[in-house]
Amino acid sequence: MSHKRIVISGTGLYTPPNTISNDELVESFNAYVARFNTENAAAIEAGELAALSDSSSAFIEKASGIKSRYVIDKKGVLDPQRMKPSIPERADEALSVQAEIGVAAARQAMERAGKTADDIDAVIVACSNMQRAYPAMAIEIQNELGIKGYGYDMNVACSSATFGIEAAYNAVVAGTAGCVLMVNAEICSGHLCWYDRDCHFIFGDVATAVIVEGGETATSEHCFEIQGTRLQTQFSNNIRNNFGFLNNADESGIGQRDKLFMQNGRKVFKEVCPMVATQITEHLSDCDVDKDQVKRFWLHQANLSMNTLIAKRVLGRDATPEENPTILDEYANTSSAGSIIAFHKYQSDFQKGEQGVICSFGAGYSIGSVIVRKL
Ligand SMILES: CC(C)(COP(=O)(O)OP(=O)(O)OC[C@H]1O[C@@H](n2cnc3c(N)ncnc32)[C@H](O)[C@@H]1OP(=O)(O)O)[C@@H](O)C(=O)NCCC(=O)NCCS
Repeated sequence: MSHKRIVISGTGLYTPPNTISNDELVESFNAYVARFNTENAAAIEAGELAALSDSSSAFIEKASGIKSRYVIDKKGVLDPQRMKPSIPERADEALSVQAEIGVAAARQAMERAGKTADDIDAVIVACSNMQRAYPAMAIEIQNELGIKGYGYDMNVACSSATFGIEAAYNAVVAGTAGCVLMVNAEICSGHLCWYDRDCHFIFGDVATAVIVEGGETATSEHCFEIQGTRLQTQFSNNIRNNFGFLNNADESGIGQRDKLFMQNGRKVFKEVCPMVATQITEHLSDCDVDKDQVKRFWLHQANLSMNTLIAKRVLGRDATPEENPTILDEYANTSSAGSIIAFHKYQSDFQKGEQGVICSFGAGYSIGSVIVRKL
C-alpha cells in the first residue's frame, strides 16, 4: 500500500421518487401471466408452449429479502401490456437521464466532502450499464459539474464501485489526480426482464457517488482512510447480459431474452459466497486487521441470505444487523451502488479509529473489497 494517506471524504445518494412494493409488482406480473396464458391457450393445450406460473410476494421476500425497489419509471414497469420502464430518449443537447441521476449523487458527495468543481481533477463513472457507447457518461457528468481534468467510464458489473475506488486510489497515489469523483449511476430497471418470474423482482434504480482524495487536502468530518483495496475476477457465465454493439450484426438476436440480465441464481449463490468470505478474511489479515476489530461490513446488496452467510463465515458467528446492515429490503439489488448505499447510510456512528469493510461482488465473477478506518 501507499505511504501516502488516501481517504474517502464524502459520499452521495440519489434515490428515485417512485417505489414498487412486492405486492404491486406481483399483481402486475400475475395479470401479465393470466393474459399470456389466455392468449396462448390453444398452444399451451397442444403442448407447444409452457403455461406461465404466478409470482408471489412471499417467495420474493423469503428467497431474497427484498420488500420493495425504487424506479425511475413506475407506470411502464407495472403495465402488464408493457413490462418495462418508459424512459423517453432526450435530445443530444439535453442532459442524459443517467448523467442526471449521477450528478444528483455527485453534488451530495461533493458537499459532504466540502469540495467544489475546482477541487476535483477526475470523474470515473463505474457501473453495470452505460446509457450509450460514447461520449463517456463520465465526461458528460464532468461537463455538467464544471470539473476540469479528465473522465472515463468503466464497467465491472456489480463490483464496479469498489473497482472504481481502487482506480481513484491509484490515480491519487500516482499523482495523476489529487481528488477523484467516482459515480455509480445504476438504471437497473432498463436491463431487467420484468416478465421473467425467476428474476423480475431483483433490481432497482439508484445513483451513488464517492469522493477519493489525498489526506493532506481532506477537510470533511466524514473522512475514512483507505487501508487497503483488493480486486479479484474469475470468469463465469452464471450472470450474463449479451446486449452489445454487435447485436446489430445479427438481426436474429435482437430483442431475444439474452439481451437482458440473465442468471443462474442458485449457482451464483453457492459459488460466490465462499469466494467473498475468503477474500475478506485474507484481505483483513494482510492489512493486519483482526476480524473482531471490524465494526461494520457494508456488503453488496443482492440477497439477504448471501450476506448473512458471508458475514458468518468471516466472523465465525452470526453478525448483528448493526455489523451487517441491510438496505436491499428497501432498494432491492442496485448493482454496483448497493454497498455504497449501505456505507453512506450506516457510517454516522463511527468513532475515530473504528474500521469497516466495503465489499462488492457479482458478474464476472468479480469481487472487490476496501478496508477503511474512520479518521
Ligand atoms: C435469485 C434468487 C433470489 C432465487 O432464489 P432461489 O431460492 O435460488 O430460487 P430458485 O430459482 O431455485 O427457485 C426455487 C423455486 O421457486 C420458484 N420460483 C422462482 N421464482 C419465483 C417467483 N417469483 N415466485 C414464486 N416462485 C418462484 C422456482 O420455480 C422454483 O420452484 P421449484 O422448486 O418447484 O423448481 C437467489 O438464487 C439469489 O438471489 N441468488 C444470488 C443471486 C445474485 O446474487 N446475483 C448477483 C446478481 S448481481
